[in-house]
Amino acid sequence: MAQEAVTTAPTSDSAYFNGSKEQYVQAMFAEIAPRYDLLNDLLSLRMHRRWRRLAVRLAQVEPGQTCLDVCTGTGAFALDLARAVGISGKVAGSDFCAPMIRAGYGTLQRQSHAPIRMMVGNTEALPFTSGVFDVVTVGFGIRNVASIASALEEMSRVVKPGGKVVVLEFTRPEGVSPVVTWYLFKFLPWLGGLLSRRDAYTYLPQSMKSFIDRHELSRMMEQAGIEKVTIRKLNFGTVCIHIGTRATSQAEAMQL
Ligand SMILES: C[S@@+](CC[C@H](N)C(=O)[O-])C[C@H]1O[C@@H](n2cnc3c(N)ncnc32)[C@H](O)[C@@H]1O
Repeated sequence: MAQEAVTTAPTSDSAYFNGSKEQYVQAMFAEIAPRYDLLNDLLSLRMHRRWRRLAVRLAQVEPGQTCLDVCTGTGAFALDLARAVGISGKVAGSDFCAPMIRAGYGTLQRQSHAPIRMMVGNTEALPFTSGVFDVVTVGFGIRNVASIASALEEMSRVVKPGGKVVVLEFTRPEGVSPVVTWYLFKFLPWLGGLLSRRDAYTYLPQSMKSFIDRHELSRMMEQAGIEKVTIRKLNFGTVCIHIGTRATSQAEAMQL
């Protein structure tokens, strides 16, 4: 199991959390929820939509499958999963911030042809029995959870042996160019402050900076029982898609 040293929020985040990271993150997303999708479109020039669709393609999500998107927010990843599984499949989305779910409700109603079940739930204690999903995804959420190890263990628990776990996340690139630094630490908080809550958009680059790197994330996925992890770098290495397969334990393999 993962070590405690890597399960807690990095100390350089602590200035942001006057108390628990969970409460801070929940309150912050509740406040920015009405403008979350708009700001995502503006700040990434709509690229975030392409990244999620690519992740669904790379995970080879098939019609008829049962999928879960955790830290689903307004449900954008769940919607892409629903498109891939079609009417014969099932998709659930869970997030601990009800206002984020509410903010995405209209879009999901209008755009999804397959049923998506949205629910309030903590990724670190998912309200599902073990081994029920073919694919479990998380988009830009793993950086925000209080314990990355617990979240990955839960994702690994609820996916079927042989099923896929997909993590789409901002990551620290090796050499950061001055333009990227300016964009993250100056432009982004400025625009965020103009249209929403400035500290939420200073938290974003700060949380990226203090987040584990892609190799460490890969190791943590393996510690959570997710094997054969592949990494696809996007956007000059500032975004990565990690995809792994839930290991089949020896006991489970013998029953097959
Ligand atoms: C940056 S948003 C990402 C939303 C969406 N997945 C996307 O791709 O746009 C992060 C989301 O993670 C949620 N979150 C953070 N920690 C969580 C936890 N422990 N359990 C459930 N949701 C959590 C927040 O409420 C927020 O909606």
